[in-house]
Amino acid sequence: MEIYEFGKHLINDAGVFIRKRMLQDFKVDAKLNPNDLVTDVDHETEAFIYERILERYPDHRIIGEEGHGTDIEDTEGVLWIVDPIDGTLNFVHQLQNFAVSIGVYIDGEPYCGMILDVMNDNLFHARAGEGAYKNDVRLKHVADTKLAQSLVCVNANWVVKDHIGQTFTKVVKDARSTRSYGSAALDLANTAQGIVNGALFFRLHPWDYAAGMIILAEAGGLTTNLLGEEIDILKKDSVLAGNPSIHKELQQYFINDDKFVRSHRKAHGEK
Ligand code: IPD
Ligand code: CA
Ligand code: CA
Ligand code: CA
Repeated sequence: MEIYEFGKHLINDAGVFIRKRMLQDFKVDAKLNPNDLVTDVDHETEAFIYERILERYPDHRIIGEEGHGTDIEDTEGVLWIVDPIDGTLNFVHQLQNFAVSIGVYIDGEPYCGMILDVMNDNLFHARAGEGAYKNDVRLKHVADTKLAQSLVCVNANWVVKDHIGQTFTKVVKDARSTRSYGSAALDLANTAQGIVNGALFFRLHPWDYAAGMIILAEAGGLTTNLLGEEIDILKKDSVLAGNPSIHKELQQYFINDDKFVRSHRKAHGEK
């Protein structure tokens, strides 16, 4: 079986695993701060995915949020980038609105991406050059929109942050309205399926966006950092995703704001 087909089966199996596992008790721990949670199910699902990839493809490499692949510093060969549960806070508080996200890169080039909305059992997927799909239905190319007529995903935490909040505030004021699904992968999948028009984040990790970037690109959208720079798939960065028109419009808010650019450089360095 080919990598893309294998990946789609694997992510569906991971969804079945989570849905069964969550019927039993699970432990919740705090990571870096009391609002940064992780559960047994995050760890077990990452191990489930990791073991199955290596069983099938012993020479592939895997980066996962919960500890796999911390030593990986280059993109040579086949690299799987895995978020076993994206939206752990939703998982803990709501038992819904969370996703599994898997992106595959070959020699640093996007190859395929899968995002499973676990409780709705919707699979968003794409292979580079072949279009994006929600289950078996091909997604239409995202329509170009102006910010004033758009819904954009922004997490309110960025809007109230010192030094950068003023720029996010302008975007919020100028948009038709905002949404935040609590899972960056679902924000990106929802941008690809056109039910929101863009998504902005000051900081995401590779496992949050590895799959979403590929799926959105295959639906005709663009993803860069907030300064319009290319994202390095091995690094944390800000993320600006959307249809080409809103992507261009939103970028201006950030690149033309010196205070924001300084804070961004301080947080993420020079490109
Ligand atoms: C988080 C979610 C959330 C985003 C955070 C991520 P996690 O991922 O994607 O929507 O705002 O920045 O860390 O920790 O639930 O996998
Ligand atoms: Ca996390
Ligand atoms: Ca995540
Ligand atoms: Ca996660």
